[in-house]
Amino acid sequence: APPVITIDGPTASGKGTIAHRVAQALGWSVLDSGALYRLTALAVQQNGTNPDDEMAVARVAQELDVAFQGEQVLLEGRDVAALIRQEQVGNLASRVAAYGPVRQALLERQRAFRMAPGLVADGRDMGTVVFPDAPLKIFLVADVRARAERRSKQLKEKGFSANLADLLESMRARDERDRTRANAPLVAAADARTVDSSSLTIDETVRVVLDLWSS
Ligand code: C5P
Repeated sequence: APPVITIDGPTASGKGTIAHRVAQALGWSVLDSGALYRLTALAVQQNGTNPDDEMAVARVAQELDVAFQGEQVLLEGRDVAALIRQEQVGNLASRVAAYGPVRQALLERQRAFRMAPGLVADGRDMGTVVFPDAPLKIFLVADVRARAERRSKQLKEKGFSANLADLLESMRARDERDRTRANAPLVAAADARTVDSSSLTIDETVRVVLDLWSS
């Protein structure tokens, strides 16, 4: 099977950016698994599915009509790349991601991204559940304040308002839920390398990952 580099970690640890940059450097494809959970949440919200109804949400995940085209994320043909970045969608994503049947519904979809010459996969359970045989697993962390500042900047660039205190609160709650859930909790794989990006630039973090890959 083609090689996979998994990059797992808490919200706004820089996984998405680092995954894209590493994939670009290697000429590999990239999987933003969080986008699949966010898309499920958005679809649930848009079609009025009861978010407490596990099986109904799993059905939405199963039937999700999505396509990734460059920067675009298409849900039923509509570009929702900016919409799914909203904190509110992230929160609902984290709620529905706690449902086992939802995770099951998205499993094969994620594995289908594994293609030659290789894949960089970012998420929470890439190294533990989806690609347990990945030859390089990164657990990317950063302190919560650094992450809230990054997320706030990212949201503002997309034209959404962001209050830092609210963001901190919301990110802490989301991390807590992701860490303590029964299904695929956010933990480092036993064979993962932990990288702390709090005081690293994007370039430096990418370099650390590429060095680990070539060593
Ligand atoms: O990474 P991102 O913030 O886009 O993910 C949104 C939510 O989706 C996370 O808070 C997490 O609950 C869920 N998720 C997950 N497993 C993944 C990726 C994301 O449970 N592999």
